[in-house]
Amino acid sequence: MQVETSRLPRHILITGGAGFIGSNFVHYWCEQYPGDRVVVLDALTYAGNRATVAPLETTANLRFVQGDICDRPLIDALLQEEAIDTVAHLAAESHVDRSILGPGAFVQTNMVGTFTLLESFRQHWMAQGKPEHVRFLHVSTDEVYGSLGADDPSFNETTPYAPNSPYSASKAGSDHLARAYFHTYGMPTLITNCSNNYGPYHFPEKLIPLMCINILLGKPLPVYGDGQNVRDWLYVRDHCRALDLVIHKAIPGETYNVGGNNEAKNIDLVHLLCGLMDELAPELPVRPANQLITFVQDRPGHDRRYAIDATKIRAELGWTPAETVESGLRKTVQWYLDNRQWWQPLLSPQYQAYYESVYAVASN
Ligand code: NAD
Ligand code: DAU
Repeated sequence: MQVETSRLPRHILITGGAGFIGSNFVHYWCEQYPGDRVVVLDALTYAGNRATVAPLETTANLRFVQGDICDRPLIDALLQEEAIDTVAHLAAESHVDRSILGPGAFVQTNMVGTFTLLESFRQHWMAQGKPEHVRFLHVSTDEVYGSLGADDPSFNETTPYAPNSPYSASKAGSDHLARAYFHTYGMPTLITNCSNNYGPYHFPEKLIPLMCINILLGKPLPVYGDGQNVRDWLYVRDHCRALDLVIHKAIPGETYNVGGNNEAKNIDLVHLLCGLMDELAPELPVRPANQLITFVQDRPGHDRRYAIDATKIRAELGWTPAETVESGLRKTVQWYLDNRQWWQPLLSPQYQAYYESVYAVASN
């Protein structure tokens, strides 16, 4: 179902706006709604990069605040000072492999941080007299639904939660809190659960950027297990359009699944990337790039398949993804070729230490 409201200028707080999806969403929002006030709150963990949104600090009506979503006095002050009426909550610890190495940060940011934001926003919303147009969008993941077999139907909004990793368990907990704030207090929360995003500004630890960068560096391409795990790939710009529609059109309390309608086995996706690199990269240390593919030890508890049924968001809000996996991957590969200056500094000694800790074990 949809609400039809004439568009008011919004004062939007985007948490995690220096991360992958958050920064794409910040760029998207500033382009679409130049009259809005945009406040970005990001702790700048290893995954946050202020440079990604820095140009907007001078060209758009944007304020960047480095801070933690667990810091209640900071959140209280920001909501009030900036008269925030809309929250797009994307800050999180987001990488499954890191959640296996150290789950504590995931519980802290994803659960305690989301609780802190919800509670601060509830006080703020009540103090304003509960205005109609206020929204709190909590961005979550399809991983909360667990793992599918090859022939199981896709996840829909009524699929029971069955998270399998510390990451997905912490996201599930935060989803339950967002849901409870609507049901208990009537606070206008919304939840989206999306599939694997890809596109520009994706941190090197994730499958697609990791493969692109390793191909360019001539390093092995580590495929976990038998490579038959399936993910549904969603181009990040398509995801941003979905979040926009949910903020503007969805009825408070609703949940929407967002998927790319692009299921692929990991090994097939890696072959596609290798082919695109062979075609688009002027120079490669190893060509054809697929010689670099190396099967390594599986991720513990590795979910076999995710698939999203996006019928509800299509039927109710008119959203469909524009990119196919072929068109989106081509753009993404070209972006990594054209933007070495963005990703090269991220391969820091700390990142190398993380890489060793995952892939040394994986290669044993
Ligand atoms: P990301 O790891 O790239 O970025 C997360 C951002 O949050 C970083 O900028 C980081 O500095 C910031 N952050 C972390 N802890 C913080 C804290 N305590 N306070 C303030 N900021 C903090 O993540 P992403 O891939 O952009 O994911 C964004 C959201 O979307 C997350 O909630 C994630 O669970 C969800 N999601 C991601 C995907 C995907 O494929 N990337 C898919 C489904 C859902
Ligand atoms: O499904 C949504 C989720 O997608 C988000 O909630 C997470 O925040 C996001 O990180 C992503 O999780 P995945 O674990 O699916 O993404 P990742 O890029 O880490 O891995 C994708 C698939 O590729 C997965 O089956 C594991 C595999 N993989 C990953 C890496 C990093 C490999 O085979 N080798 C690798 O080196």
